[in-house]
Amino acid sequence: MNERFQNMNVLIVGSGGREHAICRAFRDSKRVNRVYCANGNAGIAEIAECVAIKPDDVAGLAAFAEQNSVDLTFVGGETALALGIVDEFQARGLRIFGPSKAAAELEASKSFAKDHMSRHGVPTAAYAVANSPAEAVALLESGRFGDEATPVVVKADGLAAGKGVVVAADRGEAVAAVNDMAELVGADAAETIVLEECLVGKEVSLLMFASGGEYALMPAVRDHKRIGEGNTGPNTGGMGTFTDDSLLTADELAAIEAAIVVPTLKGCVADGYPFLGILFIGLMMTAAGPRVLEYNVRFGDPETQSVLVRLETDIADICDAVIDGEIGDLAIEWRRGSSACVVLAAANYPAKPIIGDAIIGISDAESLDSVTVFHAGTARNADGEFITAGGRVLGVTAVGNGLDDALRDAYAAVERISFAGMQFRRDIGR
Ligand code: AMP
Ligand code: GLY
Repeated sequence: MNERFQNMNVLIVGSGGREHAICRAFRDSKRVNRVYCANGNAGIAEIAECVAIKPDDVAGLAAFAEQNSVDLTFVGGETALALGIVDEFQARGLRIFGPSKAAAELEASKSFAKDHMSRHGVPTAAYAVANSPAEAVALLESGRFGDEATPVVVKADGLAAGKGVVVAADRGEAVAAVNDMAELVGADAAETIVLEECLVGKEVSLLMFASGGEYALMPAVRDHKRIGEGNTGPNTGGMGTFTDDSLLTADELAAIEAAIVVPTLKGCVADGYPFLGILFIGLMMTAAGPRVLEYNVRFGDPETQSVLVRLETDIADICDAVIDGEIGDLAIEWRRGSSACVVLAAANYPAKPIIGDAIIGISDAESLDSVTVFHAGTARNADGEFITAGGRVLGVTAVGNGLDDALRDAYAAVERISFAGMQFRRDIGR
């Protein structure tokens, strides 16, 4: 398998901290020559050649891959996958890692995902699909989701960059969420609305390399979505993540594989959209057992930063195994222990972030052995200094023999970095 491509040219699609971590994994590959990244950021530019093509310009990306002898393309985010970048590349004979447009519907449409779970007996929250706001309100008022005081979750069907989910404390809030959804996420994403029973428990995410019915799990990971310590304030793209064996016991993991992972992947095969790529399952560990909250069809951001710092196997070998249907035969090695990623965000994030401020101390932070600083929203100014260029600016990531070690080193590195208005949570991993 490994002999097929040496000196590979790879193209990574995306521009955030997730893509910086993916680029680094390919840079570390023994089989990779050039790493291109579209669009990239100032940190990615240190290790890859950035090209100015947006993720939604599928034809432009394919033309670039053809013209630059790209041997493998790896897609970071959901936008291009939902647009069918994998189908387009394959039609042109280009090798690409990721799910087809049909399989990407598991993320692009929440009703599609719920129907998939329902057909294949995958445990998840009870739900109903409404085809208009009026229908959603009528469903709420019918009492199907409990009385007026019962919490209920309101979700826009389509892709909404993390903004399409409202956990409503009671029916009044749920009705308001339904009525506000189009304004929040745009009319298209909110045309169909999914209502769900509100589940209670601890949340954990399980990612895997998947290839048809075969898969290889990554270390379980937890993210912290709210801007404020103690899970307060508005939702963000993610303020930090960690991996640690304590997230799931061996018994819990076995139960999740049997009840959720296997039927999900076998269901994709049976229904004619076999899943190849990274499947990310968001889970709630309820008193009645694990329940699926959502599927994503890609790496998470900032989950990837915490996960990939522990990957020891060559990522190019993993991509080949997934694409060629051999993932069940590859032993993937992970560094033992734990990891943590603390996101440093710009002032005023997650509203309109204030950008353009000089960032000090990145190389000082990276001089700590266990630490890697991934760039998300960064650029360089005319003097060549790193400046803030987005809401989430950096992901300061450390590995450790245990979670305490990883957190200690990540926060020690954070102390060395500063920019005007820098925000971060001090309770990641706690
Ligand atoms: P999703 O994008 O579907 O994962 O939803 C985003 C977040 O909303 C999840 O990470 C959970 O914290 C919360 N959430 C989603 N669905 C439910 C549910 N059925 N019950 C409770 N919380 C939920
Ligand atoms: N951090 C959540 C996601 O990438 O979807």
